Amino acid sequence: MGAGAVRRQGDAHPLTSKPRAVAPPPSGEPWTVMHMVKWSASYLELRGVDSPRLTAELLLAHVLGAGRLDLYLQFDRPLTAPELASYKPLLQRRAAREPLQYVLGSTQFRGLDLLCDSRALIPRPETEGLLDALSSVSGQEGPVGQALDVGTGTGALALSMAHENMAGSVLGVDVSEDALDLARSNAARAGLESRVGFRRGSLFEAVNGEVFDWVVSNPPYVATDELSATEPEVREWEPRLALAGGADGLDVIRPLVAGAATVLRGGGWLALEVGWDQTAAVETLLKTSGEYASIDTREDLAGRPRYVLARRK
Ligand SMILES: C[S@@+](CC[C@H](N)C(=O)[O-])C[C@H]1O[C@@H](n2cnc3c(N)ncnc32)[C@H](O)[C@@H]1O
Repeated sequence: MGAGAVRRQGDAHPLTSKPRAVAPPPSGEPWTVMHMVKWSASYLELRGVDSPRLTAELLLAHVLGAGRLDLYLQFDRPLTAPELASYKPLLQRRAAREPLQYVLGSTQFRGLDLLCDSRALIPRPETEGLLDALSSVSGQEGPVGQALDVGTGTGALALSMAHENMAGSVLGVDVSEDALDLARSNAARAGLESRVGFRRGSLFEAVNGEVFDWVVSNPPYVATDELSATEPEVREWEPRLALAGGADGLDVIRPLVAGAATVLRGGGWLALEVGWDQTAAVETLLKTSGEYASIDTREDLAGRPRYVLARRK
């Protein structure tokens, strides 16, 4: 997550013309599903929220315990007082630019439904590609024994590796106890506690002499000046610790690359997600360490170089 992943303020915004306000229903008439969706969409649009109609539908569907498309089957149904009371605070939170995933309380990552709140970074779709890139370079080797996820956050990468049987057991480490609490809840929810453990510590501090077949990480890598230019959803709501990578975004990546060789077995792989403008610098760090036999950069679905993979000598 970082320079290559976050939408910045001023990026092409869906608003090309002034948004139109939708009036509430006339006094005495109920809010119907349709009216609420339309009104909420205009309310969110006026507050600069991306994809306002889709957002309104997802929030209302969440409150009604229905699928988004099910709303279209009950568009004229009046909303009950309890439904309105549950919906309003969620709409207000999103209008205050709290990310949709935090408001809904969960998000999907490689088929896992992960609890998600402001204790940890929202797992991004592009991070899913890190594991595909790793499988494609490690090729015929098949599932590995032990993997380490550095900066595990919600546990997205660690849990996916176990869930998909890419690794027999996984250790997730993070400096944030808040993030680890969330990751542990996610492990319990996915029934993976016996195969995925979590420990607190900076980088490799919490590793107790274990050696890993894979070390994966989506570290904080947003450069300081880029962080202040991100959307409010990112800079005001997501943990700074999960994003901030210092002046050039490489503050965490440098010691991560240096230390990974000490916990990787010979022939094991280091797989990093970094910003599209950082891959050359990361390749140089890996080469100059002298610890890696092959170094490979892969692109994300948008065609940007994002994943750097290196095989330990
Ligand atoms: C970009 S987030 C990635 C979270 C998760 N792996 C994902 O891909 O969604 C980076 C994570 O690294 C953690 N972190 C920051 N500095 C760290 C350090 N020195 N050692 C370990 N974890 C760190 C943050 O708390 C955060 O959870």
